[in-house]
Amino acid sequence: MDALTYAGNLENLKDIENAPNYIFEKGDIANEERTAELFARYAFDAVLHFAAESHVDRSIYDPLAFVRANVMGTAVLLNACREYWGKQLKDKLFYHVSTDEVYGSLGSEGLFTERTPYDPRSPYSASKAASDHFVMAYYHTYGLPVIMSNCSNNYGSHHFPEKLIPLMINNIRNNKPLPVYGRGENIRDWLWVEDHVRAIDLIFHRGRIGEKYNIGGLNEWKNIDLVRLLCRIMDKKLNRPEGTSAKLIAYVADRPGHDLRYAIDATKLKNELGWTPSLDFEEGLERTVDWYLNNEDWVNRVTSGAYQQYYEQQYLKR
Ligand code: TYD
Repeated sequence: MDALTYAGNLENLKDIENAPNYIFEKGDIANEERTAELFARYAFDAVLHFAAESHVDRSIYDPLAFVRANVMGTAVLLNACREYWGKQLKDKLFYHVSTDEVYGSLGSEGLFTERTPYDPRSPYSASKAASDHFVMAYYHTYGLPVIMSNCSNNYGSHHFPEKLIPLMINNIRNNKPLPVYGRGENIRDWLWVEDHVRAIDLIFHRGRIGEKYNIGGLNEWKNIDLVRLLCRIMDKKLNRPEGTSAKLIAYVADRPGHDLRYAIDATKLKNELGWTPSLDFEEGLERTVDWYLNNEDWVNRVTSGAYQQYYEQQYLKR
């Protein structure tokens, strides 16, 4: 079930389009009637809840869209489970996919653990924190079987080019300025998307009910170092003299309330379920760059129309 808003794209699901255990339904999780209709039709055993507005910069322009999708959407889904499952809770599961951003911002030391107090600072992270609280409230109040995971920044193929890595790859390819917020000193912990998916699969099948699991890459990068690395990789791939793409770097006004550092302690997941990231970051970035260079049509399709308007609002009119 997907609302297919600006970043949703059925082309991303082409490889499973004909799978016998797959059915697509267009719909908005915040729409109670539509959600109830699907519960009635399919009698789900489990809900794996990925749906969210996820881009911090957009949340700064339109916070209420985040409240609607992330807070109301999650509450509607939880409530549909409560109503349709009633007391038949054996082998049922509500899995909530969340983010490390609910924990707020770290200084130069320390890591987020599952016990770190919530301290969200952007409308996006506040909306995800609220949704996490509703999930735990349904567990404690109604005994709904829930599990959630909180992951660090993802990267990989099919990533919508409003996020740092695909935006930079696209701009390097098109010789456009590379907008680095503030001084580029902010730190993120990057995880290959397929490692995240592998962790979700594992937790979904073997995680403990009522628990949360942190997922992270053990892979912290300052934004500016990451952008420079991408420039080096792309100079090679595009046969440009070394140093060419880095000349495109442009420092721009900082994001308001910009969290300094995120870093995850994923020890619980490692100890309980044996998960660790599988892919070296530089190799992952090369694969990601190759995917974007080989899928220019995909990028061109998703960056036309509404993307152009967003880009102007975010970067050209400030
Ligand atoms: P982003 O991909 O938006 O993820 P998040 O804010 O959820 O961590 O941004 C990653 C980092 O890159 C973040 O510190 C903000 C920074 N950034 C830029 O410097 N320039 C950009 O154009 C974007 C989109 C992000």
